[in-house]
Amino acid sequence: MATTAGAPNEAANLLSVRNLDKYYGGLRALNSVSLDISEGEILALVGDNGAGKSTLIKALSGALEPDGGEIFLQGEVIELRTPRDATERGIETVHQNLGLVDTLNVPENVFLGREIKSRLLGLLPQLDHGEMRRQTRELLDRFSIGLPTLNEPVRRLSGGQRQTIAISRLLLAKPKLLIMDEPMAALGVDEGSKVLDLVVKLRDEGLTVLIISHNLEHVFKIADRVAVMKNGKLVAVIPTEHTTREAIVGLITLGASGAREEDRKWLS
Ligand SMILES: Nc1ncnc2c1ncn2[C@@H]1O[C@H](COP(=O)(O)OP(=O)(O)OP(=O)(O)O)[C@@H](O)[C@H]1O
Ligand SMILES: [Mg+2]
Repeated sequence: MATTAGAPNEAANLLSVRNLDKYYGGLRALNSVSLDISEGEILALVGDNGAGKSTLIKALSGALEPDGGEIFLQGEVIELRTPRDATERGIETVHQNLGLVDTLNVPENVFLGREIKSRLLGLLPQLDHGEMRRQTRELLDRFSIGLPTLNEPVRRLSGGQRQTIAISRLLLAKPKLLIMDEPMAALGVDEGSKVLDLVVKLRDEGLTVLIISHNLEHVFKIADRVAVMKNGKLVAVIPTEHTTREAIVGLITLGASGAREEDRKWLS
């Protein structure tokens, strides 16, 4: 079958973008970005404020339509016009605000929008709270997430606990790609490391993860590769084991001209 010129190698890549563009008026927030996300990897996306990270993630989660370029899922061109288009294809995104409803309890949040119903006396549909609680507990156990209680409104829970609920919620849909925009930003050290552990566990179970983070210590702890953006362009994608935090800082601040000699082969 003929493929588009420059189309990605479908065997190794879960998701690829080619020449993605996004303009906000005269500002080019994405400047011909091409990137491959390998199946089963944790890819960290880093860059200064305004580099275009969230814009790229929004394009991949169906939250905005790019002005040009193509997105491939396992080698096939896809169009993501709405968040539903993305979730239907197995792409789930944890946004910074988490999307939890504070006044609802844990199972109610996990099943929000996909409630399980049973029929009372075989007739009236009603929410099956018992089953939702059972499945929530199973999900949390699977990822060793301990919560004191499932019955409290989630506003009483800590930032890290809320974060794990937001992630658990997405796992119900059995995604292929989990995208996270700054998931540890608002968390304390302990809680942040629990979320990091969870992300690694998910990767080890075969999930592919794209994670934005400003925290290079976190990035180097969990990511297989790190992608650097600057001024809407992808600067480089480097396996973390081949580079250092200082080298990444150089790329973030100076772009390609800040690359160490040995990292030049990873430049985009
Ligand atoms: N809705 C919008 N309208 C106009 N300009 C926007 C809009 N969203 C983002 N931008 C601009 O596009 C550029 C990229 O923004 P983006 O949010 O992708 O950056 P980022 O890398 O996620 O930054 P941060 O680390 O601060 O979250 C910035 O210059 C930003 O001001
Ligand atoms: Mg952002």
